[in-house]
Amino acid sequence: MKRVQLGILGSGKGSNCRAILESIRNGKLCAEARVVISDILNAPILKIAREFSVPNVYLPPGQFRTRLEPTVETELVRLLRGAKVELVVLAGFMRVLKTPMLEAFPRRIINIHPSLLPKFPGLEAWKQALGAGETVTGCTVHFVDEKVDHGDIIAQREVPILPTDTAESLQARIQVAEHELYPEVIAELCREI
Ligand code: GRF
Repeated sequence: MKRVQLGILGSGKGSNCRAILESIRNGKLCAEARVVISDILNAPILKIAREFSVPNVYLPPGQFRTRLEPTVETELVRLLRGAKVELVVLAGFMRVLKTPMLEAFPRRIINIHPSLLPKFPGLEAWKQALGAGETVTGCTVHFVDEKVDHGDIIAQREVPILPTDTAESLQARIQVAEHELYPEVIAELCREI
């Protein structure tokens, strides 16, 4: 079977990136990670890429806080195309993507979010769910569009909220679910590409 070429973008600790790279390594995910790109210098996700011998790039984001400077986003498209990337996987990437990326990779950019969207988009979604008194939350994989944590939902996994949960314990259990769900969903998408 053809290996689908992935580009992984992240800003942080990279635990989802690790889960994806492990799934590729153990043969559960028929894909190749072509490049890992971060907007944060020395982000742990870049170290994880190196651990798995995946090319990795720090992309200075420019002057804005929540998005990439347009010239930088155009450079990102160039990098991903240069690496022959077919599916762009956001794994904790803390910037909103705009036209250059969305037009270059239509329905080929996916994200994972720690809530059952459309509930609780935005930051610290597990805290939002706890604060709202929910008994169930979870994680969502969705196609990326121009809005934050929005776009067609591909798959979700529920995580119960226990009476004893703290923000930390809930976040940790959601991440366990993410590490199972994301590689599975990517594998399914790769079969269709
Ligand atoms: C995940 O919880 C994901 O849902 C959110 O950002 C977090 C990234 O965590 N979009 P990690 O860097 O993969 O550990």
